[in-house]
Amino acid sequence: MPTIIEPFKIKSVEPITFTTREERKAILSKAFFNAFLIKAEDVIIDLLTDSGTSAMSSAQWAGMMLGDESYAGSRSFFHFENTVKEITGMPIVIPTHQGRAAEKILFTILGGEGKYIVSNTLFDTTRANIEVSGATGVDLLCPEGKIPTVPAAFKGNMDVEALEKFILEKGAENIPVCMITVTNNSGGGQPVSMQNIRDVKAICIRHGIPMYIDACRFAENSYFIKMREKEFENKTIQEIAFEMFSYADGCTMSAKKDAFANIGGFIALRDESLALQCRNLLIIIEGFPTYGGLAGRDMEAVAIGLREVMEEQYLHYRIRTMEYLTEKLVSAGVPVMLPAGGHAVYIDAKAFLEHIPSEEYPGQALVAALYLEGGVRAVEIGSLMFGKYDEQGRLIPAMMELVRMAIPRRVYTQSHIDYVAEIIIEVYRNRRNIKGLSITYEAPTLRHFTARLREV
Ligand code: F0G
Repeated sequence: MPTIIEPFKIKSVEPITFTTREERKAILSKAFFNAFLIKAEDVIIDLLTDSGTSAMSSAQWAGMMLGDESYAGSRSFFHFENTVKEITGMPIVIPTHQGRAAEKILFTILGGEGKYIVSNTLFDTTRANIEVSGATGVDLLCPEGKIPTVPAAFKGNMDVEALEKFILEKGAENIPVCMITVTNNSGGGQPVSMQNIRDVKAICIRHGIPMYIDACRFAENSYFIKMREKEFENKTIQEIAFEMFSYADGCTMSAKKDAFANIGGFIALRDESLALQCRNLLIIIEGFPTYGGLAGRDMEAVAIGLREVMEEQYLHYRIRTMEYLTEKLVSAGVPVMLPAGGHAVYIDAKAFLEHIPSEEYPGQALVAALYLEGGVRAVEIGSLMFGKYDEQGRLIPAMMELVRMAIPRRVYTQSHIDYVAEIIIEVYRNRRNIKGLSITYEAPTLRHFTARLREV
């Protein structure tokens, strides 16, 4: 089979600034071993996130010039609205400036004290918006989704038995929404099967609970369904996505992921009375209902990107990128999450750095080592991000110590990915020399963004 090539040509480029190991050593210590505190210019390959970091197409840039900046009823809004309606089949579309704004609006209305929002896995901002409303977020992920190194086709699936049990225990009246995240970002970018979505929907219907989709990576999830669920092998991505959304009562989306936009998001709904409440809140915190928090040009970019992302050649290349990097790492013995996810490769830092206990943040130590070795910026998803303290002030570690390397869309080429693999493998060879870290400063919430650390 010929090489799967990038399905695009490059018209416009951005230089990468190169640094030496000595320079990176100084930068790292100035940034207190926290990758969030490193200037982007000092990074060679930036895999901190796939969110808002996509390269837009020439069609999207052309669309930006056509953006209609009218306050009310702009042409760009109707383009945006029609596109989302066509893809999701949902009649109501509410633009927001990004995903978490959509979540804020939805859960301010649907959440509240004593309520439970159930999910396969809620993303951090989704959970935070649920909890700010007074409600509790509950993750009911299938058992295979919790074991990083054991492959399965749909590790993002919801545990349907646990869902049924939870509903009976807490009462359907206390569960205003069941939300499925596709793909499951916090669980390794793993997909959810159509069958699982149908099963969850059936339970939700039986108990009168609306089902929502967190649609950030709907196209990547649809591609996995096409590849792994026999029934869908001859369906188009559009058809698969449409069926997926057909089971949902609504969805939220961050257009910073599968819409190739640098900013943007929306809520799509079927319920007119809920939409009325959403729009009232939208006007207070985002903007008028025909722009949300967006400029007309942003809505154009999102509308065009939403169609481009469903092109199969693109998705084929996209998913192959994660597999390609995963295969290289596996063949060198590096412990990674299997199978490869849709938007990122996750290293199991606990297995990678066996000599560093959770109390010394192996994930963060690995993030620092990757930066030092090759200027590669990744993000820790482990005890620095999710760790808590017990009453004696001892760390309660996170369930897993992962390092996520999220691949921005259409930004890096195969040789960049080869370079990333080489750096990781080199770090793996010298892993015994890596030291653990201890925290010298931390904020009371979301500490990973601003924490300062030093080598133990
Ligand atoms: N839902 C999921 C599944 C996400 O991955 C994100 C963002 C959001 C909601 C929130 O969207 O950033 O536009 O407000 N994920 C980014 C990441 C930040 O790096 O994974 P947002």
